[in-house]
Amino acid sequence: MSQDPAVVPARSRSARRYVRDVESASGREGRKDNGMSETLTVGVLGTGIMGAAMARNLIKAGHTVRVWNRSPGKAEPLAGDGAVVAPTPAEAVRDADVVITMLYDGDAVRDVMRDAFPAARNGAIWVQSTTVSLEDVDRLAADAADHGFAFFDTPVLGTRQPAEAGQLTVLAAGPAERRDEVTPIFDAVGARTVWLDQPGAATRLKLVANSWVLALTHAGAETLSLAEALGVDPDKFLQVIEGGPLDNAYLRTKVGLVRGDKLSPAAFAVTTAEKDARLIAEAGRQHGVRLDLAEAGAERFRRAAEQGHGDKDMAASYYASFEKDEGTAAQTR
Ligand SMILES: NC(=O)c1ccc[n+]([C@@H]2O[C@H](COP(=O)([O-])OP(=O)(O)OC[C@H]3O[C@@H](n4cnc5c(N)ncnc54)[C@H](OP(=O)(O)O)[C@@H]3O)[C@@H](O)[C@H]2O)c1
Repeated sequence: MSQDPAVVPARSRSARRYVRDVESASGREGRKDNGMSETLTVGVLGTGIMGAAMARNLIKAGHTVRVWNRSPGKAEPLAGDGAVVAPTPAEAVRDADVVITMLYDGDAVRDVMRDAFPAARNGAIWVQSTTVSLEDVDRLAADAADHGFAFFDTPVLGTRQPAEAGQLTVLAAGPAERRDEVTPIFDAVGARTVWLDQPGAATRLKLVANSWVLALTHAGAETLSLAEALGVDPDKFLQVIEGGPLDNAYLRTKVGLVRGDKLSPAAFAVTTAEKDARLIAEAGRQHGVRLDLAEAGAERFRRAAEQGHGDKDMAASYYASFEKDEGTAAQTR
């Protein structure tokens, strides 16, 4: 376990269940004596890959969850898990203690929150988990202040499977005096929470982490395509690096998705990865750092999407190694 006080492991699920059981047995319905709420009403805006998984884990942790998604078909299955499916963002956030946004980008967050703000309870907490630009964080934090929200800049690390397992790493920056209220939410969706000082700091760390993830993804994709083009058995390459410092579980996972034709459903879609690559490149430009890999990586994702792989897992960067109509390895998959 980390000794860093800013890194807090989530309370175990059995401990959470115990608290719920004790509270419901004592008839308190989750309200603690100090007025803080263990069982919260949460409005989740955006039930894509990540939002749907987070909503399910919030329900499992005993919270009352209302969900809204632009395409209703992605929100409706959550009714079977116990969510209330709301027809509008406003309905999803009405009376919510906490509002979570897990949308595509900053523009989508602003559009959706424009509808949600008037219906929200004054003093509610906004957990903004969409990966957005640094300027977006500032703008959204200002919007939150204008509308009486306590704003938490809260991007997450981890993809579909950790999200479904409630094992995300939550990067969180927001008002220290409201941390206790939002901790049950982070415990429900994550394995640990990394606390940072100011809104913006969490998104900066998220962009740094994604810079590494995207670079690894492209490195694996290019290495696989080169091996195939040179007639090198990819298994030989994987054997050569096995167990050494160059070996990497992430490389094996992503290469395995391409070779096993398992790019759908995506854990992290090509189009979303391109958006993140451009956020990273822009952040670098603004801070005087040249990020050649991020720029080139964004172009690989763009080309893969242009070839029709936009909804596939970002390991489909592999396809960008080939011309679309060339009779290459990509066409045989
Ligand atoms: N997947 C990952 O591994 C991962 C990991 C960490 C962080 N993230 C970040 O988390 C966020 C969500 O990612 P995801 O993978 O869950 O993506 P996703 O499955 O594509 O979900 C995106 C969501 O945004 C909604 N949306 C897009 N544009 C919108 C608009 N203009 N107005 C309203 N709603 C809009 C989509 O609604 P529709 O269903 O109607 O399209 C969907 O609910 C992104 O910022 C991503 O960078 C993703």
